Amino acid sequence: MRIRRARCHDRDVPEQTTRRPQTISYPASDVRSARGALEPADPHVIVLFGATGDLARRKLLPGLAHLAASELAPDIRVVGTSLEDLSDEEFREFARKAVVEFGSHSLTQDQWDKFDDNLVYVPQTAGPEPLAAAVAHAEAQLGPEALRLHYLSVPPKAAVAVIAMLRNAQLVERSRVVMEKPFGTDLASAIELNNTVHQTFAEEQIFRIDHFLGKEAAQNILAFRFANGLFEPIWNRNFIDHVQIDIPETLGLDERAGFYEATGAYKDMVVTHLFQVLAFVAMEPPTALEPRAISEEKNKVFRSLLPVDPSQVVRGQFAGYTRLDGVAPDSDTETFIALKAGLDNWRWAGVPFYLRTGKRMAEGARIISIAFKEAPRSMFPLNSGVGSAGPDHLTFDLADESKVSLSFYGKRPGPGMRLEKLSMQFSTRETERAGDVLEAYERLILDAMRGDHTLFTTAEGIESLWERSQPLLDNPPEVKPYQAGTWGPNAIHQLIAPHAWRLPFERAWREKK
Ligand code: BG6
Repeated sequence: MRIRRARCHDRDVPEQTTRRPQTISYPASDVRSARGALEPADPHVIVLFGATGDLARRKLLPGLAHLAASELAPDIRVVGTSLEDLSDEEFREFARKAVVEFGSHSLTQDQWDKFDDNLVYVPQTAGPEPLAAAVAHAEAQLGPEALRLHYLSVPPKAAVAVIAMLRNAQLVERSRVVMEKPFGTDLASAIELNNTVHQTFAEEQIFRIDHFLGKEAAQNILAFRFANGLFEPIWNRNFIDHVQIDIPETLGLDERAGFYEATGAYKDMVVTHLFQVLAFVAMEPPTALEPRAISEEKNKVFRSLLPVDPSQVVRGQFAGYTRLDGVAPDSDTETFIALKAGLDNWRWAGVPFYLRTGKRMAEGARIISIAFKEAPRSMFPLNSGVGSAGPDHLTFDLADESKVSLSFYGKRPGPGMRLEKLSMQFSTRETERAGDVLEAYERLILDAMRGDHTLFTTAEGIESLWERSQPLLDNPPEVKPYQAGTWGPNAIHQLIAPHAWRLPFERAWREKK
């Protein structure tokens, strides 16, 4: 098979034209994008593949229920489908439990009843006809303006079969498709997957989701950097010493071990979430807040990424992992990874980016920490405390409600000149708008319904990342064991020396009393 690489979709008109298999017609509102951010989305039938899976239960069904109730997407009908054989009633009960257990906003009885009425289920094993019939029925209720959003919450191997099913059910017209990562497992498979998907869907119909970019706090990085005059002038190798992107998780793998065994921390988290966040931290100012401009700048970051050097990577596996169901007794899969990455461009040359993530670790956190170069401190007396608590830091917390902290040395009150680390902190939770925060999937589903690609990843970007990952995939260092409840194997300290990991924090975030 001939492997053809994706190019930036916006510049790739001739190839797009040959790839596009059929006419796509959207109403004019398709392009309203960010301009109409507060307007309700057009009526949509959401076809949810993997509707009884973990992601649907934790995020997608609660998110759809909230979007419907919040009037951001009042006219949606959900057709759930998966390999399980459920009735409509059983699916509604499944969804109700999911919303109660995992919903970030509680629903009134009326809101729930309305959502519940709009849920139906079709077993995937029944084939394309019943699916097409269920969609047609839902569309008849919504009217001729209705669009389709197919959410593929399925493993990559299953995605190809689902796409064939959509084609056979003639559900490609007027539709968009949201695809879950991992997008391939290396460069060749990513190219093959992209080519296969392009046989059915045009690039503008495809929304490759990376939910970290839907987090309020990730978007706040763009606001912070590009809406203020204060930070951008110092956002470069002259002032920044190093960057840490640290996403430890306490959770283990439960029923996901089978999936994870073939994936591991690098493919599950780094190629997707951590590198995507890195791009927001490192990109040049885009010319506009719109998909082409943002993708161009992100893709430039990925192209500047130095190939991942296996000698700068620590892979770990928590003790007990190999006893989980679905895991090989001699498994080499990493449940932890830390690495030193670098960007070969003018802004960032020589600035290390330390990335870390893993399962069953000591704490759950999602932070980006920017360490500034230290000041010459000759004017302060010895033992004044200056520099004793590390460099000044700017820290972003990627929790659903974003937090930002700027730490600096200040004078300890009282006689003499003793210095100590102080901080200025901001938390969305303390603002009047805290209730407006959308959970990451909610935000991205809404954007996909509106045809707005700004926060989605492109085929070109993903392929660049796989290309730069190849040295590690070809030559992974041995996995080192670590005890559950720790910060990973000891080698993480050598990796970051002479710096130190920011986590665990010496000072906790201040919570409003
Ligand atoms: C998912 C990974 O994409 O992100 C999971 O597959 C991980 O392994 C999760 O736990 C973390 O997301 P969040 O939003 O809970 O930090």
